[in-house]
Amino acid sequence: MTTRAEILRMLSDGAFHSGTDLGKRLGITRAAVCKNVRRLTQSGLDVHRVTGRGYKLDAPLTLLNRSRILKHLGDAAADFRDRLHVLDETESTNRHLAELIAHARTMNGMACLAEAQSGGRGRRGRAWVATPYHNLMFSMAWQFPGGPGLVSGLSLAAGLAVLQALEEYGVDAAGLKWPNDVLWDGRKLAGLLADVQGESAGPTQVILGVGVNAYIGREDAERIDQPWVDLRNILGETADRNRLAALLIRHLRRMFQVFTEKGFVPFREEWVSRHLYHGRRVRLIQGDREFLGTVEGIDENGGLIVRLANGKQVFHSGEISVRLEK
Ligand code: BTN
Repeated sequence: MTTRAEILRMLSDGAFHSGTDLGKRLGITRAAVCKNVRRLTQSGLDVHRVTGRGYKLDAPLTLLNRSRILKHLGDAAADFRDRLHVLDETESTNRHLAELIAHARTMNGMACLAEAQSGGRGRRGRAWVATPYHNLMFSMAWQFPGGPGLVSGLSLAAGLAVLQALEEYGVDAAGLKWPNDVLWDGRKLAGLLADVQGESAGPTQVILGVGVNAYIGREDAERIDQPWVDLRNILGETADRNRLAALLIRHLRRMFQVFTEKGFVPFREEWVSRHLYHGRRVRLIQGDREFLGTVEGIDENGGLIVRLANGKQVFHSGEISVRLEK
């Protein structure tokens, strides 16, 4: 564990701890404690310092813990003992996993979680803002025998799996926004980014990245340019990210297995029933083109079927953004 993570582990109870006490327990000077706390705040954490009392986290947290995740995985733990990687900080868990699988014998189910990302990526070239040590930044890899075309629909099926994991965790009344956002009360709770690679004849390698807002700190909140919500707002308590990570692993692995055999079709009906924009008027923005229409469904490849003034059109995910027309 890094010094930074050790300090956080001590502060994770949300109580005050003096610099002297932290330093003594870690065998470092008060100045070194101060330097490490500064690095934590620079990375987006809200740590208060009160003269005479010490340091205190704005919100308590539970650190990621590989053994706890494996414990939550129960019977499935054996399959992940060599496949699960928990990191303190990395540029992006998707990128880290891409490097890991380049040297691995088998990639299916290889998974990676990080406490902090220095270059987290979102869809459509955006950055992914996630408060370190408080959010869930997760990636899982899978290889499919066919060409990349066969995996269209995968990112939708993955969104459904993430929604189901969140529901099993205890989140009610969340839903999907095409292609794969998880929304709660119209605000984004989780987002997915699928990096797909492969020759047209196959095989195709997918690295699926998932970001769940467990708690967004005050400074980060101002950097997010869309309506968002976090688990703390919804459930009123600090999230147990280890339990949530295990649920994501279980649901996503199941989804990958079914998708490998049957593609998107077995997911389609439930996906449509969980689509918050089904039957709604939407505006689709694709570069400098805009379309207005009503969402009619999802096709067998995961394309969005929209009735426009001049007939039906199917939109495929990628560089397209969908907004509700009020
Ligand atoms: C989106 O824009 O909705 C997709 C967000 C995906 C974020 C996750 S966090 C873990 C993984 N690593 C990244 O760099 N991005 C994804």
